[in-house]
Amino acid sequence: MIDNLVRRTRTVRRFEEDKPIRQELLNQLIDLARLGGSARNAQSLKYLVITEREVRERFFPLLAWAGYLPHWPGPEAGERPSAYVVCLLDSTLQKGPETEAHFDLGIASQNLLLGAAVEGVFGCRIGAFSADKVQRLLNVPERYKAILVIALGYPAEKVVLEEVGEDGDIRYWHDEQGVHHVPKRKLADLLLGPSDFAEN
Ligand SMILES: Cc1cc2nc3c(=O)[nH]c(=O)nc-3n(C[C@H](O)[C@H](O)[C@H](O)COP(=O)(O)O)c2cc1C
Repeated sequence: MIDNLVRRTRTVRRFEEDKPIRQELLNQLIDLARLGGSARNAQSLKYLVITEREVRERFFPLLAWAGYLPHWPGPEAGERPSAYVVCLLDSTLQKGPETEAHFDLGIASQNLLLGAAVEGVFGCRIGAFSADKVQRLLNVPERYKAILVIALGYPAEKVVLEEVGEDGDIRYWHDEQGVHHVPKRKLADLLLGPSDFAEN
């Protein structure tokens, strides 16, 4: 059921690093990204897949993990992603403003992560990196712009959803058992009707 799939497609940041994702599955996930909606149908995104251990080791330090967990430096060796997908905007295919490609990317990455979850693979979108550094490391030509990294792997952590409390704190947190908690705002707090804006 889609409701269950969406609920369990959570961001995961600790993985079984030594359990590779089959290349065929990675290709299928990129194919799901490819089929997403696209403003002007420009389809200006390309996907660079990294699985080689040596490249992964040099790539990992370029990424910033879990800004709300300042005392957690990110996954340790052995718990790092077994694959990365670097999402590139191809300027030669871009038709409208860059924001349109970012909308496309939200759709594409969600398709990818939903499909991954069905196969037991989870991931983390990472926007906190320097595009220059990433492109230099990977020799990506200037016509491309790295706009998102999706880290992937078989999960080695438990993630649970909870409701945002009265204090409105939306920061995710780790409990003593290492379980990752993700507060989501209540449906009633997001649903608006015309009466919410009625003049007094
Ligand atoms: C566009 C985008 C950029 C993100 N960038 C990062 C990032 O740089 N580092 C990180 O650890 N998580 C990153 N995340 C993951 C979010 O922190 C995560 O989606 C959020 O905590 C909610 O958890 P959920 O995905 O399980 O709902 C990003 C998510 C999105 C959608």
